Amino acid sequence: MKNYKIAVIPGDGTGTEVVNEGLKVLQAVAQKCSFKYKKVMYDFGGERYLRTKEVLPKSAVSELKTFDAIFLGAIGHPDVKPGILEKGILLKLRFDLDQYINLRPVKLYDERFCPLKNKKPEHIDFVVVRENSEGLYKGMGDFRNKGTSKEVARQISHNTRKGVERCIRYAFEYTKKYGKKKRLTLCGKTNVLTYAWDLWERTYNEVAKEYPEIQKDYAHVDATTMWFVKNPEWFDVIVTDNMFGDIITDLGAMIQGGMGIAAGGNINPKGVSMFEPIGGSAPKYTGKNVINPLAAICALGMLLTEIGEEKAGVMVEDAVKTVVKTNLKDLAAGKMGYSTSEVGDLVVKNL
Ligand code: IPM
Ligand code: MN
Repeated sequence: MKNYKIAVIPGDGTGTEVVNEGLKVLQAVAQKCSFKYKKVMYDFGGERYLRTKEVLPKSAVSELKTFDAIFLGAIGHPDVKPGILEKGILLKLRFDLDQYINLRPVKLYDERFCPLKNKKPEHIDFVVVRENSEGLYKGMGDFRNKGTSKEVARQISHNTRKGVERCIRYAFEYTKKYGKKKRLTLCGKTNVLTYAWDLWERTYNEVAKEYPEIQKDYAHVDATTMWFVKNPEWFDVIVTDNMFGDIITDLGAMIQGGMGIAAGGNINPKGVSMFEPIGGSAPKYTGKNVINPLAAICALGMLLTEIGEEKAGVMVEDAVKTVVKTNLKDLAAGKMGYSTSEVGDLVVKNL
């Protein structure tokens, strides 16, 4: 019997509540699919930072490297200046574990939850492959004449051939394996950002030659947001850089029913990957047992698929789909018609 090692970082705010429901589902699905796991809890987050003045202990990254996967709740604390925890925990783990792909499925499970008119589940079913280690997130830049009227602040988008190519290759492979339309859209800004997107476009076109069965496609990022609303059914798999991917996946989350259902995976195909709901720590709802745990449960489903328990991954997704269709009144916190823990129980019941 397989025995996995899973690191759990509930993090801040509602992170703990949604992770608890995810772990409930993990326990149930492990039994049904006959695998074992050992989980180790880590208290990284705002509370720990305020207590110890340390964002991440030095040993964190090397310890996390010994796991099969990481399950994360949310990072962000109202009493900590924005940026400290996000950069010091979330982005640090993405970078240091070289999770160079951020995989974000955009799937509508029930048309009742789509804010777009006449769009059904068959119209909203695509995946964004977001580059997760470079671009504007690299943190390169500087100030000149800071605080004066002549101040200049520069923020550089750093794109390497290696970084771009491995992301595009992953996207082609993903499209080949899972794409329903076998179409890979490059989402960029070749008309204005003529250095970065020249590299992206050239790399895309070169790698594309190895995948004659995949339909090539390109859309500017601004137009992409328009298509998300106008005809999302066009999309199958989208590959884009870190910043554009961050932005378009929030819009993607809304058209699939909101942050309550949107999950993502930070993936290192040859290393340790980390799965999380893409919403934040929602301080307003913390401790109230009203937050929607389905995004975290979907993230757990993705985790299972990535470690090789594909059947378990499908079971979790199917159970989520059933609960969304047959039980929930709404996907937003406080409006589901059920509490956080009841929603977790419903998923377990439907496995
Ligand atoms: C996300 C978040 C993060 C990002 C923040 C919290 C650093 O918005 O996962 O999309 O910008 O990547
Ligand atoms: Mn984001």
